[in-house]
Amino acid sequence: MTKKIAVLAGDGIGQEVIPQAVKVLEASGAPLELHNFDWGASRYLADGVTVPPDGFAMLGREFDAIFVGAFGDPRVPTNIHAKEILLGMRFQMDLYANVRPVRLLDAALCPLKGVEPKDVDFVVVRENTEGVYGDVGGVFKKNTDDEVAIQEDINTRKGVERVIRYAFDYCEKNPKLDGSKHNRVLMCDKSNAMTHAGGLWQRVFKEVAREFPQIKPEHMYVDALCMQMVRDPRQFDVIVTNNMFGDIITDLAAGLQGGLGMAASGNIHPGKTSMFEPVHGSAPPIAGKNIANPMGAILTAAMMLAHLGMNREAEKIEAAVLEAVRQKKTTQDIGGNLGTHEVGDWVAARVK
Ligand code: NAD
Ligand code: IPM
Ligand code: MN
Repeated sequence: MTKKIAVLAGDGIGQEVIPQAVKVLEASGAPLELHNFDWGASRYLADGVTVPPDGFAMLGREFDAIFVGAFGDPRVPTNIHAKEILLGMRFQMDLYANVRPVRLLDAALCPLKGVEPKDVDFVVVRENTEGVYGDVGGVFKKNTDDEVAIQEDINTRKGVERVIRYAFDYCEKNPKLDGSKHNRVLMCDKSNAMTHAGGLWQRVFKEVAREFPQIKPEHMYVDALCMQMVRDPRQFDVIVTNNMFGDIITDLAAGLQGGLGMAASGNIHPGKTSMFEPVHGSAPPIAGKNIANPMGAILTAAMMLAHLGMNREAEKIEAAVLEAVRQKKTTQDIGGNLGTHEVGDWVAARVK
């Protein structure tokens, strides 16, 4: 029954928000055994190790889930450790569906006029193992007038099909916050300009959609989608897209929720050890000041519990976060006047 969790707080505000989320997890009474790992910039600067040998295989073998803060530190200008640890987990553990729920908890958090919580409850399913993130390519004639830089966009039949099917499955199996059903899946691409990759996504989307006749398939180009997300977020339900568009539109979508401090995510491969992390990064300028918003990390912890089948504990945490937001027991970025630590204490006490 007890689940083993690997905790990687990482860099910057990861070191501040993850301990708050851990406190809340402990208050929830969820039967967890937590193990901390020091992977991150400081470890890399000390001994040159980003991921210890056998690191990913060990995580997959020994843990039920991985809980991560953020990676990125100005002391490591190449960001090589972030690439090897974070993208390493996504790619080498084959966590192909990056699930990023977009939920507005309180109208006061949304920068748009007249938008209520019921208007923003959608999810982005981002392909997480290929696309331009494969970093395949190279530079030719570097530092000359004839320099050429090539960055390939990898789209495999298998990769596209499995993430699209994941989005339809998700649509079918997961209710919205108000208990109603998701019933539309929208694919977002740029198939008018990027015809090779876009063509594959288009064909596969139509094929998979036929397996789910009760779900309405929809499509938008990514540029138009960005405009619509700001004009009228009510229209979105489940969105599926490639790695890079998913990255960009989920920061935009985080803006609808009150900013990056509120956004949660799971990097999932059904049946394998999956990884959960807030959408935000290490935010170096605000790190170490006790001002980072821990709600994204706390909601991510709840998402992890739900994934592990601990729905009751997950719901308790979500309810406590909602109450904190309503009572303005929050950090400054969303209008409160508490510190990171104090928000964690308040939510943990409420959960208890
Ligand atoms: P960022 O998400 O760290 O910050 C973007 C903006 O949002 C900043 O203004 C920051 O202050 C604010 N912000 C982010 N999280 C917040 C929180 N919890 N509370 C309050 N405000 C918050 O993105 P960035 O500045 O583009 O990147 C900083 C570093 O983090 C870079 O090294 C980047 O590569 C890395 N990064 C890592 C991850 C990850 O590990 N998953 C994600 C994004 C960026
Ligand atoms: C995210 C981040 C990462 C990404 C960076 C740190 C490589 O922005 O998780 O959204 O682009 O996927
Ligand atoms: Mn991002």
